[in-house]
Amino acid sequence: MQKHRRSVGQNLTEEFSYDENLASVYEKLTSMVGKVAEADETAVFLERFSSGRSAFELGIGNGRVAVPLSERGVRVEGIDNSDSMLKLLAKRTDRIKAWKVDIADFTSEQRYDLVYCVHSTFTLLCRREQQIACLRSAAKALDDLGVLAIELRVPALDGFVSGQKTTTTLVDCDNTIVNVEIHDSLNQNLLSSLLWFSGASVRRFPQRIRYVYHQELDTMAEFVGLELAERWGDWRGGAFTDVSKRHISVYRRATS
Ligand SMILES: C[S@@+](CC[C@H](N)C(=O)[O-])C[C@H]1O[C@@H](n2cnc3c(N)ncnc32)[C@H](O)[C@@H]1O
Repeated sequence: MQKHRRSVGQNLTEEFSYDENLASVYEKLTSMVGKVAEADETAVFLERFSSGRSAFELGIGNGRVAVPLSERGVRVEGIDNSDSMLKLLAKRTDRIKAWKVDIADFTSEQRYDLVYCVHSTFTLLCRREQQIACLRSAAKALDDLGVLAIELRVPALDGFVSGQKTTTTLVDCDNTIVNVEIHDSLNQNLLSSLLWFSGASVRRFPQRIRYVYHQELDTMAEFVGLELAERWGDWRGGAFTDVSKRHISVYRRATS
């Protein structure tokens, strides 16, 4: 039986956890931004690295990616710190083992071909030390030839005026969704509130992230003994360029 250590100490991410409120609309929200539609191609991409055997997801959520990956014959396990999200996963499948553990601080007795963290979940760790701790734990969970794959949004700091920005995510007959952000530049944090107006109701989903550029990610990875093996601009293997809105970075154990 695999054991995962729970984290101790203050965790800013718990302040903005994926509670029942967010979990209840997660599928709809991810579907609106195209993340449900791309789950299969994400699984195809990741399968290449799991050698058809074992994979471990950090922030596994409702199994958006873990479920199609396990349907491709990979033994997928994962961790998440939200009871509500883990319940969604358990409703979908009993084939995937998942534990309630913080991705900023975990140990795994098992080793995996692939450890992965998608949908910019890594940036939900809003302190630099937490991000490094996560990478260190992930590196230890890799088989000798294992890889760590991370999908991250490229920070979008354009459009901020006096440290504030509001963007419209969706407007249709029934819904208006706007995202209100504040930039905390000293901590590389973006504090946001997604406001969802629908009929007479307004729902609010707050979040804090620590944005990271790809070069900082490489440096943090090198710090824990990993090196960049591949970087792509999308799950289909498109190039990462200066107009890419995200990247998928794949790290292996450093050879030197
Ligand atoms: C953006 S969602 C991604 C979920 C899923 N991986 C996907 O791609 O749809 C982020 C997930 O990470 C979890 N999470 C956030 N911070 C975490 C932490 N510090 N430790 C463990 N899980 C965390 C949330 O509960 C949520 O399920």
